[in-house]
Amino acid sequence: MKVFKKTLELKNELDILSKQGKKIGFVPTMGALHHGHIELVVRSVKDNDITVASIFVNPTQFNNPEDLKKYPRMPEKDIAMLENANCDYVFLPDYDEVYPKIDTTNYDFGMLEKVMEGKFRPGHFKGVGMVVKRLFEIVEPDNAYFGLKDYQQFLVIKSLVNQFDIPVNIVGCETIREHDGLAMSSRNLRLSDEQRKEAPEIYKSLSFIKKHIEDKSVLEWKQWFKDKINALSQLKVEYIEISDAITLEEVSLFDDSKSLVICVAVFAGEIRLIDNVLIND
Ligand code: PAF
Repeated sequence: MKVFKKTLELKNELDILSKQGKKIGFVPTMGALHHGHIELVVRSVKDNDITVASIFVNPTQFNNPEDLKKYPRMPEKDIAMLENANCDYVFLPDYDEVYPKIDTTNYDFGMLEKVMEGKFRPGHFKGVGMVVKRLFEIVEPDNAYFGLKDYQQFLVIKSLVNQFDIPVNIVGCETIREHDGLAMSSRNLRLSDEQRKEAPEIYKSLSFIKKHIEDKSVLEWKQWFKDKINALSQLKVEYIEISDAITLEEVSLFDDSKSLVICVAVFAGEIRLIDNVLIND
């Protein structure tokens, strides 16, 4: 496995491989890798001739400077994990390699960036759009892999490639969970023992709603989730939305013919956990 820090060097190497007809798979990450990321790499290795992973903690997508400062960074461990997973290239750029000049592009994802994560993290998705577009320009992958834990991000990235006509296939991969159901996330590393003990209740409650969806109305289920989670000593619900799985428009009634997604953000102290379940998918 080769590690590149310079954009041009990686680009030159990948250009040669592309011209040889090699299929390139790409897994963009912000590092602090866990099994969920590795599953994306495994999938890419299976689907493509060459797999590239990037590790870049992108400042433009953090609306909270404290969160950016505290984001876990462990490049050596990440590199070892990627090597183990048979990744071929790692891109580990500095800020200037990703953003050599100011990006004046107007990123507009409409409704997709106004609700849920977009509402509570203003500017977040413009930052995601900016970095992913730039990384796609550098790597020019055939396929790019994203975890469905960040469901809204997945829709935003699909919209990005449509809007800018970027010739890449976006592959959404199932959320990987701990044995007790907690969605894997780099942020889990920061949970205290008490917070970690309660955190699985998020997915347990979401799964319960999915299983019994017909028993209550949309409003009743939202309230049920808030009551259940807020009753725990370590967790506090920021939002729960039950929405159309394609447009993210909120629904007020259940309709069997529509795919829905239930998305939540829950604070464990200052650590923000997100999760979702799809209904009728
Ligand atoms: O999902 C992430 O880790 C990030 O948002 C991404 C896609 C790597 C862009 O920085």
